[in-house]
Amino acid sequence: MTPAVYQKCIHPACGGTADLRDTHFACPKCGGLLDVAYDWNRLPVPKALKHFESKWANRTNPLDFSGVWRFRELLPFAADEHVVTIGEGQTLCQRTDAVAKFVGLNAGGLFLQYEGMNPSGSFKDNGMCAAFTHARITGASRAACASTGNTSASLAAYCAATQLMRAVIFIGSGKISYGKLSQALEHGALTLQIHGDFDDALRRVREVSAKLGIYLVNSVNPFRLEGQKTIMFRVLEAMNWSVPDWVVVSGGNLGNVSAFAKAFSELKHLGLIDRAPRLAVVNAAGACTLYELCEKRGLRWRNGAFDRAAVDGYYAELSARGAKADTLGSAIEINQPVNLPKALRALSCFGGVARAVPDTEMLDAKAQVGAGGLGCEPASAASVAGVKRLVAEGVIDKDARVVCVLTGHLLKDPDETVAYHTADKATFDAKLGSRGVTSVSFANRAVPVPNDLDAIVRAIQSHA
Ligand code: F0G
Repeated sequence: MTPAVYQKCIHPACGGTADLRDTHFACPKCGGLLDVAYDWNRLPVPKALKHFESKWANRTNPLDFSGVWRFRELLPFAADEHVVTIGEGQTLCQRTDAVAKFVGLNAGGLFLQYEGMNPSGSFKDNGMCAAFTHARITGASRAACASTGNTSASLAAYCAATQLMRAVIFIGSGKISYGKLSQALEHGALTLQIHGDFDDALRRVREVSAKLGIYLVNSVNPFRLEGQKTIMFRVLEAMNWSVPDWVVVSGGNLGNVSAFAKAFSELKHLGLIDRAPRLAVVNAAGACTLYELCEKRGLRWRNGAFDRAAVDGYYAELSARGAKADTLGSAIEINQPVNLPKALRALSCFGGVARAVPDTEMLDAKAQVGAGGLGCEPASAASVAGVKRLVAEGVIDKDARVVCVLTGHLLKDPDETVAYHTADKATFDAKLGSRGVTSVSFANRAVPVPNDLDAIVRAIQSHA
């Protein structure tokens, strides 16, 4: 009899499976991506989502305190004694009318799911605690990732806080913000800065992990995505278990959109929701593989039989042009997303769309999110810039209820924020101009004032 929990190839025609403990994270039959699969008939599942609210009464139990593990009946791959938590997932879903106005939605229409409140400052902790739990089941002693910065910060934090594994981190040269690099260094991770970009680093870390038997925590690891499903459970909870019309997220390696889609598929299958939201993924214009393939070239999932030659052809084109991913949203500076097939499946199941936004729109949206009271990093704000476009196009109705996931904290990348607000305009425009876009709209420049009482008073009054 198949076990109640195992790993299963995402391609329906393949049918490959792997044991729960397997750490290759590739289908043994076809090499494709794997899902964590459950035989729900043999697992205890609550009758209604309201069940999870009672967990709040039990916050002295670390498993009930965690915003990931209090939903553990919906990611039931580990016994409680294996579960790893450092208090992740205490995040906020906030109605933000000022930002709703900016994107063209009616008041009450926009909610920001603020994942910057996680222990390491990004959504990655949702997935990292799940990967660590799986790693503990398998007895791994070292873990590795390639990263644009947040996965590595999260891995380093979990290694340091739990002392369960040692961290090996691969980053591209010059492609990581200081906030994130400082976390990897401070938490004591072995940090390898290789010559190349994220796509190069990911290829290498997969080779090295296989060769040395190091546990891989990039989002090709399906257990990571089990943890990231809970971001959507918390969104539903914040909306009193009602389902929004749209969920919008920035796209890099496309793990989040894949996890969100799995969350909604399973909730529907279990009869815990009666409808699902539509999904939108927003790329940076300088790293827009999903947008290019889906929206411009018509690539579709086709129940797993998607046109692989079209994907390979696009990658070959990029490399023939010497085109590397290039955006100020460094977290999503990725041209070859490993979860592309899962993202195609997600878009096809949930009426999904992809868009690409230039850096200026991303940074303006970020400044508006900040002016509304929540601070996020540039890549996170692609979601908000994407909503603005989709509302203008009429794809999202003005009276829709929309959730944007803010994936990382403002302080992850303060350099870009300070540059936006205070660098002299000509310098900043020149920097953006090299990317084919110019000018920023919401700069809040520092005001130079002499050290003189009257001058200070005049400066304040003239800005009243
Ligand atoms: N936003 C932030 C802040 C991120 O760090 C990432 C990915 C994404 C969005 C994209 O999420 O990959 O699920 O589509 N950062 C990875 C890293 C790649 O290495 O930290 P995705």
